[in-house]
Amino acid sequence: MKHKVTLIPGEGIGPEVASATRRVLEAAGVQIDWEEIAGRAGASSDQGQVVNQAAVDSVRKNRVALKGPMATAIAGGAPSVNVALRKTLDLYANLRPVRNLPGVKSHFENVDLILVRENTEDLYSGLEHEVVPGVVESLKIITEKASTRIARFAFQYAKLHGRKKVHAIHKANIMKLSDGLFLKSVRTVAAQFPEIQYKELIVDNACMQMVMDPLQFDLLLLPNLYGDVMSDLAAGLVGGLGVVPSANIGDECAMFEAVHGTAPDIAGKGLANPTALLMSSILMLDHLGNRPAAKRIEDALERVYCEAKHITRDVGGKAGTNEFADAVIAAL
Ligand code: NAI
Repeated sequence: MKHKVTLIPGEGIGPEVASATRRVLEAAGVQIDWEEIAGRAGASSDQGQVVNQAAVDSVRKNRVALKGPMATAIAGGAPSVNVALRKTLDLYANLRPVRNLPGVKSHFENVDLILVRENTEDLYSGLEHEVVPGVVESLKIITEKASTRIARFAFQYAKLHGRKKVHAIHKANIMKLSDGLFLKSVRTVAAQFPEIQYKELIVDNACMQMVMDPLQFDLLLLPNLYGDVMSDLAAGLVGGLGVVPSANIGDECAMFEAVHGTAPDIAGKGLANPTALLMSSILMLDHLGNRPAAKRIEDALERVYCEAKHITRDVGGKAGTNEFADAVIAAL
């Protein structure tokens, strides 16, 4: 089975973890024809365009991409390339599985939950303006169409993967119209899946419940911003950002990336944990229908964590990025 995949190595620790992931996939005998390309538009691109158009074209053509993180300036500067890629490619479902890895010290054991985050609207619309000096407006866009689409994705995913319970997370007590519409749309879809238990939680309570008792959750369905915040929170329950993967899925194509960012504090030092991107590539192999290869890498990864001799510093070990990748390759 040979796959053609767009590889966007990204920035900061992106190229380091992408190269480690690629080495492991090759050692596992996965046949991939990589089309490597930068995600960010060059300085000479059309005004306002932050995404490299050639990267968008490549993902559209290959229908699958593996992507490293890309930096976004804080309070000013260019808009996020990551968000632009997800929106341009209409990758409306962001799937974030959170599970304990053997040997990784964490606050809880047996955490096994999925966050499904709406990926195209909400406060990520990027529609902000200054009304008068000292007053700005930021628009939270919620549509029935996108809310229904993500709810359908979440319930279908739950049904297909044996998940029994869906929690919709909202703040409709305050944002009565926007989160209200999200909730109303989700309820309509939930009614079509009577075999799946449906619950609702206000986001602040959901955060508290998550750090007190994450085992009560199975699948969480969230609008964009709450999904972003709660998935980092959930990552913190199982060992941090170095071990949590994600998939951005649309009807036409899919892009797999770690939940973490460019980690500027450790970039270029060979210290980054490539597990999150490697686990994202396992999600990618499943998406491509290559379960045998996904399983081989999953097992090797598990063995390396069980032995705990060559794990990276973020999860309590001493190994660097390459030493960890070598250990996974040896375990294969
Ligand atoms: P971050 O995820 O880059 O780093 C947070 C902390 O986690 C840091 O201490 C970092 O060293 C650690 N960390 C993250 N990934 C790690 C790994 N694989 N191995 C070991 N340690 C790891 O978050 P931060 O600092 O808030 O963001 C940095 C930049 O990344 C920003 O420009 C942000 O916009 C961007 N970003 C990009 C994302 C993407 O491309 N999807 C997602 C999140 C942030």
